[in-house]
Amino acid sequence: MRLAVFDSPEQVAEAAAERIAACVAAKPSAVLGLATGATMDGVYRALAARLRSGALSLHEATTFNLDEYIGLAPEDPACYRATMTRLLFRYCDLDPARRHLPRGDAADPEAEATRYEAAIAGAGGLDLQLLGLGRNAHVGFNEPGSPADSRTRVVRLCETTRSVNRAHFPRGRDVPERAITLGIATILEARALLLVAIGAVKRAPLQRMLEGPPSPDCPASLLLRHPDLTILADRAAAGGESGAP
Ligand code: GLP
Repeated sequence: MRLAVFDSPEQVAEAAAERIAACVAAKPSAVLGLATGATMDGVYRALAARLRSGALSLHEATTFNLDEYIGLAPEDPACYRATMTRLLFRYCDLDPARRHLPRGDAADPEAEATRYEAAIAGAGGLDLQLLGLGRNAHVGFNEPGSPADSRTRVVRLCETTRSVNRAHFPRGRDVPERAITLGIATILEARALLLVAIGAVKRAPLQRMLEGPPSPDCPASLLLRHPDLTILADRAAAGGESGAP
């Protein structure tokens, strides 16, 4: 595991975009695992700037997002597909047929999860998985209790997660109770992991993740077994002046 600590959230976002761009430069047909959440806004801003300037092309790349709410159609502005379109897809030359997210409106969500897992394998697996960190140390929507051998599946969201994510929904709309998420084992199969943590609110979950011991109670800690895990954090998340938690 490598931990890099930066002074500002903007520097973290730049470093994350740089890592993604380097992955695509080394392998233009890279399969990227993408994430959502406020942490990723700056990362996608930095990527969009590279796409607009022509410094980066996703022309041959394929993307798979980590998760999606169940019950939301792809055109729903609150769903993660809409978020990805707003923040990244509309700026890029990525083939729409190779922008993958689970279908939140699938008639059979379990079957959709199985199909999604197979689609990732069919694309040759993930070259780089981008990850945020939930306040309860969830990754994707793998809430506490998610086992290390979990696969892409339907999950029930914790009330804390639903209340935090309410900020991303229009007033009066409820956050869905369930989602489809890549499993921990699916994430661990990516060839490299890039976890981004920004802000004081991520200090406690990052500390729990790093202090161990790895346990399903702290899903992010299960990623520590990955041989190529990079964590990018700002000082607020990493714990003050020392630069390390
Ligand atoms: C959501 C996403 C997670 C993400 C988390 C953190 O719950 N499903 O993948 O890591 O939010 O979000 P934020 O970056 O807004 O703190």
